[in-house]
Amino acid sequence: MNTVKAIYPGSFDPVTNGHLDLIARGAKIFDHLVVAILRNSSKNPLFTVEERVEMLTEGVASFSNVSIATFDGLLVDFVRKQQAQALMRGIRAISDYEYEFQMALMNRRLAPELETIFMMPDAKYSFVSSRLVKEVFILGGSIEGLVPRFVIDRLKQRVPKG
Ligand code: PNS
Repeated sequence: MNTVKAIYPGSFDPVTNGHLDLIARGAKIFDHLVVAILRNSSKNPLFTVEERVEMLTEGVASFSNVSIATFDGLLVDFVRKQQAQALMRGIRAISDYEYEFQMALMNRRLAPELETIFMMPDAKYSFVSSRLVKEVFILGGSIEGLVPRFVIDRLKQRVPKG
């Protein structure tokens, strides 16, 4: 029987409930889902890759077919090394579409055998992003319900005044 392995790439700085909602959906339709954290991001991350791996590992503990990995360089090279057939990405709003469309078509040009599958998170997470979560927390606003409790605890350690 053919099995389908998908890669869910991103920065995950930090993982949000929107990411976890998408992972739960992906875990239902793919035989194996690998959440892949980009190592050499040009963004200036708040959490180290190791911290992000720890948080994601905690977040996906209840899924037996989900694992966490990190990658450097071109995403399509990592996908080929993993022998995966699909890429999973989340689309929250139309504003995500243009960037995602460009990436999907560039990845298709680089690896025509690979399909990108877009999934929508629950509408209640449609405005949630790692960037906004960090900004609101740093400025003292509540992010309750938008990220797991262990992420709030880590943010409190990292940004004592949040
Ligand atoms: O969560 P993000 O930051 O939007 O994820 C972006 C990510 C990691 C998927 C993208 O930057 C990526 O794939 N980077 C790896 C380098 C690469 O392959 N670039 C060409 C993409 S078309």
